[in-house]
Amino acid sequence: MSHELSRRQVLKLVSYVSAGTATVGSIPLLSRFFATERANAQATPFIRENIYTFMQSPAKVAALRRGVQVMKSHSADIQTSWAYQANMHGTNSLSLMTAWNTCDHGTFFFFPWHRMYLYYFERILRRASGDPTLALPYWNYSDVEAQRVLPEPFRIPADEVANSLYESDRTGNINVNGGASLPATIVAYASAFRRTNFFHTTTGSSFGGRRVSQTGHASSGKGELERRPHDQVHVSIGGLMGNPVTAAQDPIFWLHHANIDRLWERWLRQGGGRVNPTTDLDWMNDTFTFFDENSNDVQMSGRQVLDTATQLNYMYDDPMSASNNSVASSPSTDISSQRTGTSTPQEISISASEQQVTFVLGDTPLTLTASTQDLLTRRVLVENAIITLNVTGVEYEQENPTSYDIYINLPQGAAPNPHSPYYAGILSLFSLPQKGTFSLDITDVVSDLQRRNLLTGGAISVTFVPPPKKTPQNRKRQGRPNRRRGVVRFSGVTITRE
Ligand code: C2O
Repeated sequence: MSHELSRRQVLKLVSYVSAGTATVGSIPLLSRFFATERANAQATPFIRENIYTFMQSPAKVAALRRGVQVMKSHSADIQTSWAYQANMHGTNSLSLMTAWNTCDHGTFFFFPWHRMYLYYFERILRRASGDPTLALPYWNYSDVEAQRVLPEPFRIPADEVANSLYESDRTGNINVNGGASLPATIVAYASAFRRTNFFHTTTGSSFGGRRVSQTGHASSGKGELERRPHDQVHVSIGGLMGNPVTAAQDPIFWLHHANIDRLWERWLRQGGGRVNPTTDLDWMNDTFTFFDENSNDVQMSGRQVLDTATQLNYMYDDPMSASNNSVASSPSTDISSQRTGTSTPQEISISASEQQVTFVLGDTPLTLTASTQDLLTRRVLVENAIITLNVTGVEYEQENPTSYDIYINLPQGAAPNPHSPYYAGILSLFSLPQKGTFSLDITDVVSDLQRRNLLTGGAISVTFVPPPKKTPQNRKRQGRPNRRRGVVRFSGVTITRE
């Protein structure tokens, strides 16, 4: 039964009673019904707030901490426990319980699956917190530079016992627990918002992922928003967040995904043909299993999550405001224009070689260079071209994925700096299939380098830089995999223009 349906039933019962026709015998039933449903049936939608607003209220932060704490205190076989919910996303456990390991990545179910997952998690969290008004906050790391810092309640106190929102295992390329901010390149969503198609089929790209008829745990058809900021933020935070198998154990996961869910709404509001695939019967009707706050299993499908306010009773606190990073306000793009020129993709192979070569990423940076062959000699954004970097045949240790930073035209001898214009992002292995292709839209980086005259001389280079060494303290965490660097191999690098 959908939540919308149960809300209507509550309303109907209320008017029945107020009309004075209820028998005495029906009242205990009614109040029991109210006791279980009240928390999710308030008349106006719950408002998911920006965490930087939310955390102004100590009472809200306390409720959030309490809810997480209570969920963490229950064991993994209880559906409403922290561990059970996290295992639904991913787990290494060999004895799988209902709905474990069911997160959807690399297909056009990425957005609806995670929306449903958050919806039921939020209901469980609200119940656990004891605060019937609690709604999940979101972390908007993109639009305001000062908010690229991991919100303070998740870092301080840096003590997992005293602070249920703290997680010591955040060991990506940025020291987020120390208050370092995520690089602008990691959090950018302009490239995703340029896409006007929700899904793509066999090749090409889209906002929301490749069309498939059935859900996929780690498929190869990521949409652009899943690639960035979604995957990039996961691996930049690193540690538990860096691997789908452990990601949902870190409390910041839920705020990251509330933001991804909000960006889906915001993409739709850009207009220009951006719509959900409501004529696609698989997307609309394929069902997924979750658990509600009473541990009842529930099935849900895409058609039930199209409108958060009317179907799921929640909204974001910024539904109509314009965004700084949006396509509409970006000077270099035009949402309504079709791309000019031919649509035949052009390609440079950075690792051109007839024979089979394997590149191995280890403890030292690796730089590959190629001639730009006219492909990047023109102003790419002005021409509405999309430039994509592809790393093919990527192999890595599933237990221990290592995130290499990628730089374009990093000058020889220059220290790699993720806040510099050369930084393109992370070679993200988050839910990347083995031997799959990692792709990243580098249009904005290339365009910026062109503007600064840093892409000249007819050659382009790509440099892979290993992440900073982990501190011993992070390594010997009990019950967590050893965080030594795993080797990453790949067979080639190309840059395409379409
Ligand atoms: Cu299912 Cu952010 O991952």
